[in-house]
Amino acid sequence: MKTRTDLLNHIAEKYNLQNYLEIGLQVAALNFDKIKCPYKISVDPNPNAKADFVCTSDEYFEDFPKTKFDLIFIDGLHTAEQVKKDFENALKILSPNGFIVLHDTNPETYERTIVPRPNPSGPWNGDVYKTAC
Ligand SMILES: C[S@@+](CC[C@H](N)C(=O)[O-])C[C@H]1O[C@@H](n2cnc3c(N)ncnc32)[C@H](O)[C@@H]1O
Repeated sequence: MKTRTDLLNHIAEKYNLQNYLEIGLQVAALNFDKIKCPYKISVDPNPNAKADFVCTSDEYFEDFPKTKFDLIFIDGLHTAEQVKKDFENALKILSPNGFIVLHDTNPETYERTIVPRPNPSGPWNGDVYKTAC
């Protein structure tokens, strides 16, 4: 399994999951559009991403707490503090037997883990790895 998309689709197909939520979209064509769930929702505060909900994850979870999802991909703001919040909020809207997948938990270099982000255009995993410990 090579990519996040492969992993998400493996889980979705194996368990016949229907409802997918992606926190942090950026470019839909890279992952979101390829996810094989019939019902998909994306959240991203950057209007350029053209997410279904143009808002932060905190705002989404506060305003739309009733929709349940079978598969939730957390890939928004890459700080341990935010990912912990996203994970706890995601648990509240997770279907029974649903799955939460965290991205950026296995950084390749120390430089990629520095918070705040030193370079807005370089690769950055933040300190998300702390949430997986
Ligand atoms: C790494 S990109 C997402 C990549 C995408 N999930 C993929 O797999 O191709 C991170 C995105 O999170 C968004 N983001 C930043 N802060 C956020 C927040 N508080 N809530 C939701 N999304 C956020 C950024 O605008 C950015 O587009």
